[in-house]
Amino acid sequence: MDSNTLAPESDVENIDELKYSRTIADLPGPKGQPFFGNLLQVGGHQLHLTLAKWIREFGPIYRLNILGRPLVIVSDRTAVGSLLKERPDGFRRTRNLKTIMGELNIKGVITAEGDDWRKQRKLVMGGLNAEVVRNFFPTMTFMTERMLTRWKAAVADGKPVDLRRDLKALALDIVVGIAMGHDIDAVNDDDNQLQRNIDNLFRRLGSRNAALIPYWRYLKLPVDRAADKSAVEVEQAVIEFVRNTRELMKQQPHLQQKPANMLQAMIAASDNPESNFTDQDLIENATLSVIGGEDTTANSIAWMINLLARNPAAAATLTNETDAVLGAEPLVRDWELMKQFPYLEAAHNETQRLRSVAPFIGLGSNADCVVADTFIPKDTAIIVSTIGEGLDEAQFPQNEQFLPERWIFEQKPQRDDDPSRKIFPFGGGARLCPGRFLALTEIKVVVSMIMHNFELELDTDAPPVEQLMNFFMGPSAVPVRLKLRV
Ligand code: HEM
Repeated sequence: MDSNTLAPESDVENIDELKYSRTIADLPGPKGQPFFGNLLQVGGHQLHLTLAKWIREFGPIYRLNILGRPLVIVSDRTAVGSLLKERPDGFRRTRNLKTIMGELNIKGVITAEGDDWRKQRKLVMGGLNAEVVRNFFPTMTFMTERMLTRWKAAVADGKPVDLRRDLKALALDIVVGIAMGHDIDAVNDDDNQLQRNIDNLFRRLGSRNAALIPYWRYLKLPVDRAADKSAVEVEQAVIEFVRNTRELMKQQPHLQQKPANMLQAMIAASDNPESNFTDQDLIENATLSVIGGEDTTANSIAWMINLLARNPAAAATLTNETDAVLGAEPLVRDWELMKQFPYLEAAHNETQRLRSVAPFIGLGSNADCVVADTFIPKDTAIIVSTIGEGLDEAQFPQNEQFLPERWIFEQKPQRDDDPSRKIFPFGGGARLCPGRFLALTEIKVVVSMIMHNFELELDTDAPPVEQLMNFFMGPSAVPVRLKLRV
């Protein structure tokens, strides 16, 4: 037993020496019902809002009771940081996530543990590193320009643009492009089989994750059978992509040294006789990356557009920044310019603070430990809030306001004042999101294209936008019209 004692000032301690002043039973928490406990209060598509409401009510560590078993919710930044750092040894992902994903044949690094996780993590990190993203950048800008062409034509013809649908299609094109080396052009083709299958898997993942009872283990409805079929078809498609990419790399051996996408990078790594990556590892992680990289990025952009449309001053500052960087170019084509969007980066941070698309991470403790002065027995379920202290008025004054300026500093802030240490939108520690650099690159390319070419017009007659948790958290709509700038 090593360093899984997580009192804020903790050092490595022996199990007999764990120091704490309370147990889970001492923690505050909402009143539950007989037998069910809090179960019936935590289902559905607004779970993150319920958990956040209770953070305000019960503080940075509280407990729920789910059918007699405790569930501990942690948002204190020190404890969250330590919990995330203590993986994979001290804490694992929840078994429920592994089961639900595995049932839909979604595997790979996200649900791996121990040495298997270490191996898969190496493969995925090599496939999504800065060099691969840079090599893929021309394809990303090509796909983004294709979106721009479609929008310009629609606006010129007076046709409405469905931003929510289009941003999702563009994110899918980009992530399938990098992870599977294939251009499905979902932006222009609604009827792509791979896209339908991925959508199917996603919908099932979202609804099963929110379900109170895992009915599909006893009775498969038509939607469940369709998802099983989609899982098989996605796997077959990826096997085919691996085969084609191997063929291409034989014909163009320079791709071994300079892979143009994640799949090529993973194949190059697995061709190394010293690696023990299997084809199954490649297939699982390519599929996982598409699942992990589509809605996260699309929802983040959709939220940012929603927030910018409601905050004209911030939108104007961002438009000025993109005009200064892009000049006469319709979008960013020069990789070197990517560093010149500080306000866009700040707007992204502020978006994640207010509308985190992955608002919590579920963990299980691998051994007895102490978290924030509380004794946590082995095998306790813990939910870590990635919003951390982001919704705390004392940490972020004018909390409800969208203020990208709060992320911009003349001098690097002191550690305790640094806002980026108070929230965890991409997780933390050794399991920090490996798609982070890709996501940030994509967000900058797409949002700068939008702000440089269009004005955002909020549809004030539209119903309020809801926050919906469908595995990832996204807006119910993007009621914003694009108007061509002259
Ligand atoms: C704005 C976009 C994104 C957000 C907010 C996001 C957020 C997250 C979060 C919170 C985690 C859990 C981290 C942890 O446990 O500490 C995670 C893990 C992961 N993400 Fe992302 N993500 C984004 C984009 C992407 C993209 C584009 C990809 C791939 C193409 C990706 C692939 C993954 C994978 C494979 C993991 C599991 C890592 C592991 O368990 O070692 N994500 N992400």
